[in-house]
Amino acid sequence: MKLLIINGPNLNLIGRREVDVYGKENLDQIINWVSKNIKNSKVDLIWFQSNSEGDIIDKLHWAIDNQIEGIIINPGAYTHYSYAIRDAISSIEIPTIEVHLSNIGNRESFRQISVIKEVCVEQIKGKGKNGYLEAITILCNN
Ligand code: DQA
Repeated sequence: MKLLIINGPNLNLIGRREVDVYGKENLDQIINWVSKNIKNSKVDLIWFQSNSEGDIIDKLHWAIDNQIEGIIINPGAYTHYSYAIRDAISSIEIPTIEVHLSNIGNRESFRQISVIKEVCVEQIKGKGKNGYLEAITILCNN
């Protein structure tokens, strides 16, 4: 099963950014940890990170013609206001799970709103790197 994992703006800085919120591990360490801990050996993960809304949308479109069967997306702050990313997710019709390292439900009020939640099959928040692993398991059992 081929899955695309997209991380949005500022997630390239985790490990150095607000470590009390996002933890001390950087994105490469999280990628390695997730890859080592996947239970299903038939899963092929394609990781992508961008700080640009357009590049994230282009990658979502790319998924259509590249046999991607499921998508995991942490859109960073775009979560809270990008109708363009929401439209891209609903346009491609590939099961998508929204993941957040922190619990956006108990942070500032602007973070409690997700404009992509309704077009995703699930929202996982506040579980740190385990959230990515949980999302992979859900997509594999879908
Ligand atoms: C985040 C939460 C967002 O509110 C924030 O803008 C991020 C990271 C998370 O993973 O907890 O950049 O998506």
